[in-house]
Amino acid sequence: MAVLNIVKEGDPILRKTSRPVEEITPRILTLLDDMVETMHAAKGCGLAAVQVGVLRRVVVIEDEDGTLYELINPRIVARAGTQEESEGCLSIPGVYGITRRPRAVTVRALDRHGNEVEYTGKGLLARAFCHELDHLDGTLFIDKMLRRLGRDEVEVDE
Ligand code: NI
Repeated sequence: MAVLNIVKEGDPILRKTSRPVEEITPRILTLLDDMVETMHAAKGCGLAAVQVGVLRRVVVIEDEDGTLYELINPRIVARAGTQEESEGCLSIPGVYGITRRPRAVTVRALDRHGNEVEYTGKGLLARAFCHELDHLDGTLFIDKMLRRLGRDEVEVDE
């Protein structure tokens, strides 16, 4: 396993669309392992493959309770309600802002074994699902930011 370099905003790769994974090869499994290690090293709660320079539809997320989600080719299949909460991104250090996201989100994906999985997240997990899946289509949270938070308002959670 390896801690990978995280691509920062301004690098054009972050604006590209990631391609689906067609086959879960050992390379994809290594990518997942490295992404988890990189996310932990950066003390983040989510990371998309594009953020380590790989244009594949692969995402890792760690929930507040420590549950790890490894998502291959994830897609949102249901949304409910809205929430307006703070968000940040490992590719945009020091910037936090309020975004409007669904209160609850259901995601379908493949796990590392190729099994179809479905998760419903609320609150922070719903925000993380939306934020990380947006990365796969070249969208950053600053595109959707309603208001940037000042230094004194920041409660760092990502
Ligand atoms: Ni991000």
